[in-house]
Amino acid sequence: MPHTKTPQGFYKPLAIGAPEPYRQPPVALERMIHFVPPHIEKIRSKIPDMISQVDVILGNLEDAIPADEKENARSGFIEIGKNNDFGSTGLWTRVNCLNSPWFLDDVTEIVASIGNKLNVIMLPKVEGPWDIHYLDQLLAQLEAKHSIKKPIQIHAILETAEGMNNVEDIARASPRMHGMSLGPADLAASRGMKTTRVGGGHPFYGVLEDAEGDKPRTLFQQDLWHYTIAKMVDACMGNGIKAFYGPFGDFSDGDACRSQFRNAFLQGCVGTWSLHPSQIKLAKEVFSPEKEEVLFAKRILEAMPDGTGAVMLDGKMQDDATWKQAKVIVDLAKIVAEKDPDLAAAYEM
Ligand code: GLV
Ligand code: MG
Repeated sequence: MPHTKTPQGFYKPLAIGAPEPYRQPPVALERMIHFVPPHIEKIRSKIPDMISQVDVILGNLEDAIPADEKENARSGFIEIGKNNDFGSTGLWTRVNCLNSPWFLDDVTEIVASIGNKLNVIMLPKVEGPWDIHYLDQLLAQLEAKHSIKKPIQIHAILETAEGMNNVEDIARASPRMHGMSLGPADLAASRGMKTTRVGGGHPFYGVLEDAEGDKPRTLFQQDLWHYTIAKMVDACMGNGIKAFYGPFGDFSDGDACRSQFRNAFLQGCVGTWSLHPSQIKLAKEVFSPEKEEVLFAKRILEAMPDGTGAVMLDGKMQDDATWKQAKVIVDLAKIVAEKDPDLAAAYEM
């Protein structure tokens, strides 16, 4: 017998008094998870303006926060949570990793003070389902203690070779799982990949065209992250949770960033991280479906009201499967339209 919980047990609160786990995760538009360093006062003062411009604000406590600012980042994040009204914009934090000296206080202090406003905890360097189980239990105890009304969800970063091996078990470890992001920097290090870049392509990773006499041969660059993203998307979508691209480190190269975001979007990711204000616009552009695609998808749905049979539209065959493809795009367009009046008009919604 596999060591899994009973179906009933899976949805039982893990502590007496903790909220019921979600059976269906809440619907939320999360095209970009915008990272902010909460120890910096100037950044904290910009949060009220930022709320209307992004889908998710994430207070980063982990990597990129200096060791001697870890406590200030935590208290700065709590201040951000207390002093702002987030409306439909998500409030997330990335806590320090499980074996760090900061993790326990990050989680306990944040849940105690702003647990009713916090939507998601991003957990870095997840190696296997045991990491999720630990945070799951701890959160249930804290939710019970502090009378938290809704379950705080967990979002794993996929950034170790061991985590890759266990990606499916991580995705289904708990009803608290929100989704997963690719962490290309840590993952590259953990796997021994020979790149110093944070996400994106590499000029040496490609396929050389066949030799033809002395003709110069072109190297066609390939997406270094193709396999990883595809595996992550299958693990997530196969378990009813969402997949995200992660950081793109070269802020000076918007075109490369857009192209990496787009590959992830086309493969099934629903959003990305934005680490710099310029990436917010790129993420919005890429992770909102294209106007022409939405209008065409709407025509498919209209042409096949019950989703069965086959029709031709502009010379292209449509059937039950393309109806489902169209529905993915139209469903996404609907939640984008709710947040964005310009796109609502473009999508004719
Ligand atoms: C993100 O945390 C990464 O390591 O790429
Ligand atoms: Mg990392």
